[in-house]
Amino acid sequence: MRIPSLLRGGIVLLLTQTAAAIELNIDSYDSIKSATKIIAQELADGYWLPGDVHGVPHPPYYWWLHGAILGGIVDYWAMTGDTRFNANVTVGWLRGVSPSLDLQPDEQSFSEGNDDQGFWSIMSIDATERAFPETEDQKEMHAGFLEITQTVQNLQAGRWDDKTCGGGLRWQINPTNDGYLYKNTISNGLFFQQSARLARYTKNQTYADWAERSYKWLREVKIVRDDFYITDGAWLPDCKKFTEKRWSYNYGTLLAGCAAMYNFTDGGAYWKEQIDSILTATYATFFDAESGAIKEIQCQDSDSCNADQPSFKAYLARWMAYTAQVAPYTYSDIMPRLRKNAQLAAATCTGGTSGTACGLKWNTGPKFDGIMGLGEQLSALEVIQNTAPFVAPVGYLVDIDNGGISKSNPNGTGTRGGVHNRNSQYLPYRLRNYDISLADRVGAAIITLVIVVVFALGARFTMIH
Ligand SMILES: *[C@@H]1O[C@H](CO)[C@@H](O)[C@H](O)[C@H]1NC(C)=O
Ligand SMILES: *[C@@H]1O[C@H](CO)[C@@H](O)[C@H](O)[C@H]1NC(C)=O
Ligand SMILES: *[C@@H]1O[C@H](CO)[C@@H](O)[C@H](O)[C@H]1NC(C)=O
Ligand SMILES: *[C@@H]1O[C@H](CO)[C@@H](O)[C@H](O)[C@H]1NC(C)=O
Repeated sequence: MRIPSLLRGGIVLLLTQTAAAIELNIDSYDSIKSATKIIAQELADGYWLPGDVHGVPHPPYYWWLHGAILGGIVDYWAMTGDTRFNANVTVGWLRGVSPSLDLQPDEQSFSEGNDDQGFWSIMSIDATERAFPETEDQKEMHAGFLEITQTVQNLQAGRWDDKTCGGGLRWQINPTNDGYLYKNTISNGLFFQQSARLARYTKNQTYADWAERSYKWLREVKIVRDDFYITDGAWLPDCKKFTEKRWSYNYGTLLAGCAAMYNFTDGGAYWKEQIDSILTATYATFFDAESGAIKEIQCQDSDSCNADQPSFKAYLARWMAYTAQVAPYTYSDIMPRLRKNAQLAAATCTGGTSGTACGLKWNTGPKFDGIMGLGEQLSALEVIQNTAPFVAPVGYLVDIDNGGISKSNPNGTGTRGGVHNRNSQYLPYRLRNYDISLADRVGAAIITLVIVVVFALGARFTMIH
């Protein structure tokens, strides 16, 4: 893939198509394997740039996407048995987990939000549930997948903020970042999903309590409205003002968490109602009525997706498939839709110099739409590989009593107790390319400035006394 970064970010590349589309017979496991093999290689070649075995973030992509991609590759191994990227996953994981064993590497210390950490943590619960092999080094370092997920869980539970909006996690971890004044759906939705999957895996009720608490808070504060319109988040001070945009990954993460809780409660009626309502809203919102294609409605038609957003469909597909596994009654409803999308996505994979880069718009095929990148490639990979359990006995999930191999450490907090390494040269704040309106940005910047000043005064005050 190797897209020059300047050409990314919503700019449409017009390339002539030379190669034939990737062949995919959706009823054949061999065919799914060969199609995903080509797509995964294309993804890996764009991710691990020449000379960089670690997968260091390269513009325009942020660190969180690397955790998300590693998660997709873990699932690739689980669905196909192909081990060729396993070493990449281990090396990338050990780097991401950082010396402090809390998924807060130093170089991310100022820009990392709860959602960034959450995407990596979801990758590690995924590796835990798939029994992805751990190396001796990794175990010796206490960088096992389960214990790091538990560490993030402990740190994020410690950041739960009852003082405003009756609860919730703030988007940002550092008070000096503007998103500290925003309680967004994805940070809370990943925390909810992580709690629910830890509950399912370990059977520890403490995690289930956190899952219930965080989900009910999202509903009470109306980030998830009564009609299951799921907003992007709510603003401090009182969470009465919302960013109304709808993104597929927000629906996906809540769906997966509800499914894990459904399983944990052995078919609990409350969680079934939530699953059914979120699924109905997901189909109505993101599934194109005409083609059946999943569409990122907020940015796809208008060609305004940033570098993050083309990957969101990957997580919706991954978490719908997860739902079909832990809430099997949804299987016959979910799987035909994913299979349809697998075919539509595969039909776009004729782009780039290799002729196997996949496009963004699955609803305008069968052709490459000229838009490619790591997110587009990951989305095609996930939607195709996740149909494998439909035709082959693959993709089983283990738990602590049934096939689990990762060591539990419920009291983990990392080596610095979750505190970010504050390095003032990065002050005062950084805005990410999220869906924050200009007015919000200006307002948040002013409040950020006030916080910075108050902090500075506070520090002086402390020094004087
Ligand atoms: C990771 O993948 C790339 C691209 O496929 C490959 O060139 C590289 O050697 C791999 N690195 C590791 C550590 O396995
Ligand atoms: C929980 O998940 C397992 C598969 O992982 C499945 O066999 C079982 O039926 C699920 N439980 C319920 C209540 O659906
Ligand atoms: C359950 O999780 C909590 C919170 O992390 C922990 O304090 C407790 O020790 C765990 N219990 C078991 C039996 O692992
Ligand atoms: C975790 O901490 C709790 C409370 O301090 C303690 O009771 C428990 O034994 C610890 N669990 C482990 C596995 O260390």
